[in-house]
Amino acid sequence: MSADVSKLDAYWMPFTANRQFKQSPRLLTGADGMFFRDDKGREVLDGIAGLWCVNAGHNRPRIVEAIQAQAAELDFAPPFQMAHPKAFELAERLAQITPAGLNRIFFTNSGSESVETALKMAIAYHRVRGEGSRTRLIGRERGYHGVGFGGIAVGGIAGNRKHFGPALPGVDHLRHPLDISRNAFSRGLPEHGAEMADEFEQRLLALHDPTTVAALIVEPVQGSTGVIIPPKGYLQKLRAICDKHGILLIFDEVITGFGRLGTAFGADYFGVTPDMICCAKGLTNAMVPMGAVIAKQAIHDTFMDTAPENAIEFYHGYTYSGHPLACAAAIATLDVYQSEKLFARAASMAPAFEAAAHSLRGLPHVKDVRNLGLVCGIELEPIPSKPTARAYEVFERCFWEENVLIRTTGDIIALSPPLIIDEEQINRLVAAISKILVRMTK
Ligand SMILES: Cc1ncc(COP(=O)(O)O)c(C=O)c1O
Repeated sequence: MSADVSKLDAYWMPFTANRQFKQSPRLLTGADGMFFRDDKGREVLDGIAGLWCVNAGHNRPRIVEAIQAQAAELDFAPPFQMAHPKAFELAERLAQITPAGLNRIFFTNSGSESVETALKMAIAYHRVRGEGSRTRLIGRERGYHGVGFGGIAVGGIAGNRKHFGPALPGVDHLRHPLDISRNAFSRGLPEHGAEMADEFEQRLLALHDPTTVAALIVEPVQGSTGVIIPPKGYLQKLRAICDKHGILLIFDEVITGFGRLGTAFGADYFGVTPDMICCAKGLTNAMVPMGAVIAKQAIHDTFMDTAPENAIEFYHGYTYSGHPLACAAAIATLDVYQSEKLFARAASMAPAFEAAAHSLRGLPHVKDVRNLGLVCGIELEPIPSKPTARAYEVFERCFWEENVLIRTTGDIIALSPPLIIDEEQINRLVAAISKILVRMTK
């Protein structure tokens, strides 16, 4: 089935150059394992787990069946003052794989909603424990925390902010820790730059006063703006500064959660325990939209202990929080991750992935390669006065000429394949990029 371009008008596509896309649509009509099928019947190797989310590969039968069975049994249960058993079951299951102490789970429907929820939870937490002055939120430049007003405020992507007014007041940002001048072609954690965490205390807390700050939110590895990996010791320093000043540390693990770094969460990989984790994407293997905030028990208990008897403790939630289909999908997804040991598999494939990614070093236009677990960024020299054009061309040509789906942001290619990828597929993915880079004339 080829696309009928005259029928593409009504759909206003998200984060897409709509007019450009509709000239030459890329339509996916099926998927299985490591591959999409497109409307021309081509098999397309998925180099980005859909959108950093299909961690167990596509259309896994166990998850499909769980959703089908759930839809036939209980379509919906109101989540306010009511519940259904699978929401509790899923929360218990999740609490078994989260870092120690983080065992209270609040369900949302997306990464963006997880971020809004965590930011509100942080401010409210301080208020109920008697420190209502702590309302400021600190994020990072080039951070991506979804598209809610809180998320764009703490996020650090100019394009996502400039059209939408001031968003939240009382927000400030750390610099991002990418430093290609010192760390180009790092394998794993960059050596240089832990001291960049010091500006949190020396500049931002000195300016705002620590007693006004509720939380710092960071992605352990910044994904959407081109895979920025924290230097050795950097996250540990942020944790220490938060501890010193009573500030909550929120890890936005929407990408790093569920095995991307070879561990359940980035927190496990780095050995740094935040106060809250935001997750989504891999939670249900992207089969049904779902997100969650995983909070330290002490945070949860503070709400429980301070609210009047029989009162709602946290005035927040969504009609679809803990939706039965999402819970069924998530439980089956955790089953797949566990029975196939997919997080350990990601760790075991990481060296081959690293070697393949770094084989691009020295090819035309390649300015940096950086990797961790099963995620890597390949930064290209921009075409003078045409930022983003070079990477976009690689993306399009990989899709049409090599039947491979990659993702680009600015002039950076990001790869984050499903955790089931094998060595041959890794090599095919990277070879596709290599061939296109060599073929590009300018
Ligand atoms: C770190 C991070 N936070 C939040 C989000 C937003 O998630 P969603 O698109 O599900 O709202 C994303 C999406 O890529 C993300 O990478």
